[in-house]
Amino acid sequence: MKLRHAIERPTRRAALRAARLLRAGRLVAFPTETVYGLGADATSDRAVAGIYAAKRRPRHNPLIIHVASLAEARRLARFDARAEALARAFWPGPLTLVLARRAGARLSRLASAGLRTVAIRIPDDRVALDLLRRTGRPLAAPSANRSGGVSPTRAAHVRLSLGGRVSLILDGGPCRVGVESTVLDVSSPRARLLRPGGVPLETLEATIGAIEVDSATTEEARPASPGRLLSHYAPQRPVRPGASEPRAGEAYLAFGRTNQPATLNLSPTGNLAEAAANLFAMLQALDRPEFSAIAVAPIPQRGLGRAINDRLKRAAAPRR
Ligand code: TXA
Ligand code: MG
Repeated sequence: MKLRHAIERPTRRAALRAARLLRAGRLVAFPTETVYGLGADATSDRAVAGIYAAKRRPRHNPLIIHVASLAEARRLARFDARAEALARAFWPGPLTLVLARRAGARLSRLASAGLRTVAIRIPDDRVALDLLRRTGRPLAAPSANRSGGVSPTRAAHVRLSLGGRVSLILDGGPCRVGVESTVLDVSSPRARLLRPGGVPLETLEATIGAIEVDSATTEEARPASPGRLLSHYAPQRPVRPGASEPRAGEAYLAFGRTNQPATLNLSPTGNLAEAAANLFAMLQALDRPEFSAIAVAPIPQRGLGRAINDRLKRAAAPRR
């Protein structure tokens, strides 16, 4: 097939083609409000295997299942009152719920890496929802980048990272939120935060009360969220978070008002939502040979800052 038109605007025609490709077991990258996803038919082991191959993702790391409605989600997993409340409050939106998988759910075992739980969300993006409805199947979709690399918030990032490995990239423009969904495990009585993301912890706690924060890292043999490997979200250049000033040769990614020579600024006004939306694109932009490293200003550990700091810590972690 021709790759000339691999990136397409999400017209009706492109969406129809994307849905047809997905139903045929092919991979399609699509925008969500968080980051671009690499989508495959979540009911097909063969299609899902294609995701792991294209990303070079370890097979023990399960995928998020995207659906278009709460009714569809209920067919795949069991919702207790707390999960219902969360879904009603935050879906569509950047919250992924880890729930007990229903026996007989029509879902590839590979997609949830053989676990008894399944991670589900409804994305808050017109193109993604339209694609889900047209395809008529749940879609497994990790971030559309090589495993370990910086997540894509633009269609061009997807092409750079995965290029010819995907049948089609739907271009919905820059992602609004810019960091991945918050992953919350509600499969047991104690809710646990597995990955900080687009919905701040404080906001979730206002809905369901105290949440345990998972401090697991990959040093553990079996991390609670298997995707929380060290060294993730990493550009080629080393990343140095918490830097109040750059060292000679470093790029400086500032935050808020600063007297330092900023190469780029995540948010000149110190707005965390703006900083999250800019994070991955700016890390990509600064990943250039003229810099020895990317120094990043301290980011407050509240609201979306928690997700930003999590990604920076992993980008700075020892490389695999
Ligand atoms: O915003 C997002 O969530 C994006 C967009 C495309 O929706 N997707 C995304 O997927 O970030 P991915 O595969 O890069 O991250 C999925 C995370 C991983 O940390 C994985 O380990 C965790 O969710 N996860 C998936 N299924 C799980 C399960 N059953 N139990 C615990 N963690 C799970
Ligand atoms: Mg990812």
